[in-house]
Amino acid sequence: HKVGILGAPLSRGQEKEGVKMGPDALRKSGLLTALQTGGYNLKDYGNLTFEDEPKDEPFGIVKMPRTVGKANAKLFEAVKKVKADGRLGVILGGDHSLAIGSISGDAACHSNLCVVWVDAHADINTPNTTPSGNLHGQPMSFLLKELKTEIAGVPGFSWLEPCLTAKDIVYVGLRDVDPGEKDIIKKLGIKFFSMTDVNHMGIQKVMEMINDYLYSRVKKPIHLSFDIDGFDPVLAPATGTPAEGGLTYEQGIFVANEIHKTGLLSAIDLVEVNPSLGKTEEEITSTVNSGRDIILKALGYLTI
Ligand code: ARG
Ligand code: MN
Ligand code: MN
Ligand code: MN
Repeated sequence: HKVGILGAPLSRGQEKEGVKMGPDALRKSGLLTALQTGGYNLKDYGNLTFEDEPKDEPFGIVKMPRTVGKANAKLFEAVKKVKADGRLGVILGGDHSLAIGSISGDAACHSNLCVVWVDAHADINTPNTTPSGNLHGQPMSFLLKELKTEIAGVPGFSWLEPCLTAKDIVYVGLRDVDPGEKDIIKKLGIKFFSMTDVNHMGIQKVMEMINDYLYSRVKKPIHLSFDIDGFDPVLAPATGTPAEGGLTYEQGIFVANEIHKTGLLSAIDLVEVNPSLGKTEEEITSTVNSGRDIILKALGYLTI
């Protein structure tokens, strides 16, 4: 396995600064040494640096559009480079708005990319439906061809061409979805497995259905976008928008392992780890190590 690690300390897609520290916290968790001793061909691309754009006035209520747009343009180029080097991309966030650049960069190398999005939230608000104005609640609407008209004119994103269609994505773990997001998901017929679904049919059945739906007929490269708040806050409390009733450690690991087993993983985002929101050292460690283990399991570390 050839792997490329890329830190993306993007934080302006929401309002809690500490998420900038996510990439370094994940690095310090022993992620890279584990992969090295595990025999992976590893290249560390370091952390990208992002600047605030001057006079970044809101667009409607959308906050920091130029700053987030420019950071994503940089990430888009960096992910393309990792993929051009023939490596599986591991993108350490950072807030979830980074999925715009990360998935666009991955899709630039794989026109048939599909996405498994593990999250408490759907992150598919448009600039018109967003209740918060935070771009980390909107990346999916920037990525979908069907929603192209909804994002027209947002400053900072003129470089972006939507790369996915609604049938290319599946959600796992949803439990905090805004009314406008529900309408979009229904209208576009996006496949999702809420926590209610996971609890009713079990995570094994869910992964079986995702397998059938996304990639069993035609093999397609998979982008796994894993928001740490997909996990239950008992396990991963150090995150900006925790939601009760999430995935257990074993369920999250099962998802990652099933994706490894397909042999189709192209890149993984691990986002929304915010070490400064842990109330104790244990809360921070538990959050960071849970994220690290998702990455390791998705890469098949210690798996036979
Ligand atoms: N739905 C809410 C919003 O639009 C919360 C989004 C949380 N997103 C995240 N990536 N944690 O603001
Ligand atoms: Mn989330
Ligand atoms: Mn998210
Ligand atoms: Mn393997």
